[in-house]
Amino acid sequence: MVCLGNICRSPLAQGILEDKINKKDLSFIEVDSAGTSSNHVSEHPDRRSIEVAQQNHIDISKQKARQIQIDDLREFNHILVMDQSNYKNVLQLCTDQQQKEKVSLICSYLKTETPTEVPDPYFGQKDGFKHVFDLLNKALDEFIAKELL
Ligand code: 4NP
Repeated sequence: MVCLGNICRSPLAQGILEDKINKKDLSFIEVDSAGTSSNHVSEHPDRRSIEVAQQNHIDISKQKARQIQIDDLREFNHILVMDQSNYKNVLQLCTDQQQKEKVSLICSYLKTETPTEVPDPYFGQKDGFKHVFDLLNKALDEFIAKELL
């Protein structure tokens, strides 16, 4: 799960996916998140992401931000990014075509065609985080059904 800072969207995506796979006895699957930037490395998630997760009985408070590494592209089977900018930045880190094929916009799993990106909620209000949660929740259900079952 990859966004820019690894403090708002991708920690939520990680927490939601971990919660879903634990409930489906798929907890052997490793889930992690990272940011394309190093600006927030070692920080805990934004308190607004922690709050919206908590309201949905998911604890993401212990996560710590990290920057995506070249090894991640080798080690993980699926790299889900939040927006076009993340997509471009992650593709630039790929060393071969096989790695590029692992990278998808998380919204590409939504059944509806829109939206195509998970909007960056950092400079917005609290309701933006609820919108991000709902989008991720839907997209990750579809991701599990298509790729993990
Ligand atoms: P994220 O959100 O990429 O979903 O973690 C952001 C967090 C921080 C900043 C931008 C987006 N920032 O500009 O510091």
